[in-house]
Amino acid sequence: MAEFIPRVFSGVQPTGNLHLGNYLGAITKFVDLQRTHDCIYCVVDLHAITVPQDPRQLKASIREVTAAFLAAGIDANQHIVFNQSQVAEHAELAWVFNCVARMGWLNRMTQFKEKAGKDRENASVGLFAYPCLMAADILLYRATHVPVGEDQKQHLELSRDIAQKFNLDFAESIAANGHGEAFFPLPAPLIQGVATRVMSLRDGTKKMSKSDPSDNSRINLSDDADTIAQKIRKAKTDPDALPSEIEGLGKRPEADNLVGIFAALNGQSKAEVLADFGGRNFSTFKSALVDLAVTKLVPIGTEMKRLTEDARHIDGVLAQGAARAREIARETMVAVKDIVGFVH
Ligand code: AMP
Ligand code: TRP
Repeated sequence: MAEFIPRVFSGVQPTGNLHLGNYLGAITKFVDLQRTHDCIYCVVDLHAITVPQDPRQLKASIREVTAAFLAAGIDANQHIVFNQSQVAEHAELAWVFNCVARMGWLNRMTQFKEKAGKDRENASVGLFAYPCLMAADILLYRATHVPVGEDQKQHLELSRDIAQKFNLDFAESIAANGHGEAFFPLPAPLIQGVATRVMSLRDGTKKMSKSDPSDNSRINLSDDADTIAQKIRKAKTDPDALPSEIEGLGKRPEADNLVGIFAALNGQSKAEVLADFGGRNFSTFKSALVDLAVTKLVPIGTEMKRLTEDARHIDGVLAQGAARAREIARETMVAVKDIVGFVH
């Protein structure tokens, strides 16, 4: 087997408002992994256009997600931050993977079913093939670790299937070109911690999402202190006091969600939070949560705003990241062309 350096890759779509789910499920993990891994973080604009986008808004969102990465503490000098469309190899490798993946595999993707809704005939081909592009994102850098929220687990499994089928289909050519037994590593999902699936503040059974029509369902990274406080105070709860043990959260999705959010923001486990707040009512708990959320999130929102005002700086960060990403991507594509049998 070839040896693969432990490299992290992950992506966030530049669509709508970045929210607490993105922050706790993905971005805080991105920040932590910088200490132990080589990291590549991508604003996946090619993924965004699988559904209609307003071009001006798209540009603004690309810069906003980049600003969020930087404001949260991602170091774009030490690691790589860029937007996907600046590295053409993403689309190129995705095409090869379109020819490796099977219709049957993609037909099973729950995110496609959810996003396409009832009118599947009218969904873009890109929305259907989305997971092949995601596999290309990761495997272009031969990344081994992919921090994501729980909702991306199925797509990660598909990326592994694609890597494995490519390695098998082209086994002979891979060996003949001097790459040993496997060209692509099988990327491992990193889905860890207490907030891998942050739920809506209005309905503890629904995921917190950029596309929820109710802004009160989510805390946006750009929300100010008053807005955060209002949304938390309005968050749906049940009439009982908080339990002292985890088991007591079982059939209480809203309580479970708020405790999870508190734990993640404070770097604690849910059990530790319940040890402090068990027996207390929600108004006490929510006040503490407001203080914590405001302390943790407002500085990031403020810094995001400051950074987004300087588009030239952000664009410079993306261009520099893209140049570094392209070097790695090119090398992979040259090898892929040899393996597949293209003249270049
Ligand atoms: P997206 O906004 O769909 O590009 O998602 C960016 C990252 O945030 C992905 O790793 C998602 O899994 C993660 N994410 C999105 N929504 C949530 C949520 N409600 N809870 C936890 N993670 C989430
Ligand atoms: N599909 C992911 C999402 O919707 C975003 C994404 C695109 C991604 N390419 C990726 C995540 C590669 C991890 C690795 O959230």
